[in-house]
Amino acid sequence: MNFSGEMKQKVNEIEAILDEYLPAAEGYQKQIMEAMAYSVTAGGKRLRPMLMQETFRLFGGEGKVVEPFMAALEMIHTYSLVHDDLPAMDNDEYRRGRKTTHVVYGEAMGILAGDALLNYAFETAVKAFDIAPEKSLQIGKALKILAEKAGIYGMIGGQVVDVASCGKGLDEAMLNFIYELKTGALIESAMMIGAVLAGATQEQVRTVEKIASDVGIAFQIQDDILDVTSTQEELGKPIHSDEKNEKSTYVTIKGLDEAAKDVERISEEAVDLLQSLNLENPYLTWLIQELVHRRK
Ligand code: IPE
Ligand code: IPE
Ligand code: MG
Ligand code: MG
Ligand code: MG
Repeated sequence: MNFSGEMKQKVNEIEAILDEYLPAAEGYQKQIMEAMAYSVTAGGKRLRPMLMQETFRLFGGEGKVVEPFMAALEMIHTYSLVHDDLPAMDNDEYRRGRKTTHVVYGEAMGILAGDALLNYAFETAVKAFDIAPEKSLQIGKALKILAEKAGIYGMIGGQVVDVASCGKGLDEAMLNFIYELKTGALIESAMMIGAVLAGATQEQVRTVEKIASDVGIAFQIQDDILDVTSTQEELGKPIHSDEKNEKSTYVTIKGLDEAAKDVERISEEAVDLLQSLNLENPYLTWLIQELVHRRK
């Protein structure tokens, strides 16, 4: 099978894991479980759980201990999208090819569905203790990474500066800060948690953090490029959202050509660093390279 065939199979496997960990819709509050499932099961590339599992495999990880963390991270990522789309933030009405959660369930349920996904992510991740009690130390470390990378020194911190700087010009240093945090941080958590759960050394985890940071920055620059060059049909979300919100992006600051070159250069850096680990996962190398030319 070629790598893109493998990718489809891996996405299916990840979605089966997500289904397994999503809460049953029951009780007086069942609306919230439905709203959570609405956004999580809508699709998406499943990049973060995929990077986690492939990094776990890179370091020789085996078994299911990584699975609750894969589901947890996709829940946190999805909550960040549900909130990112709210009227008070980017105010977008399509996501993953569907009307956004707040459009379908109302704004209050959109806010609560995001809160619920964030909290349930941790309820899910701790299930790793039942799966592999002998790995408690690694699981504890992985929880710390997940909490920190999602928080004020991670994704939320990046979203704060992103929102606060709407309508203002930004310099490249500030833009890099935003990208490292709003997008880089969760991708760092994906690869670092995969490494930690597989028993990587501290030094290896630091290298993995840098690889993932590069992948995340390149990924966000490509997201900005696609906001200008793609279509809603292909992306599953509206184009020209950044212009609508008067955002400074790599594209507004450097232009499309320079931005595309940066995606390529930063991704090459990531691949070089990955190779410096002297470990084998050809699929992971392919995936990072593939993201450079992604169209959605
Ligand atoms: C969208 O992330 C938000 C960004 C960080 C650019 P993805 O492009 O990974 O969204 P899905 O998960 O495929 O929907
Ligand atoms: C959002 O960046 C990153 C998040 C943490 C959600 P964008 O606002 O550019 O993401 P999209 O384009 O709406 O997916
Ligand atoms: Mg945004
Ligand atoms: Mg947005
Ligand atoms: Mg965007």
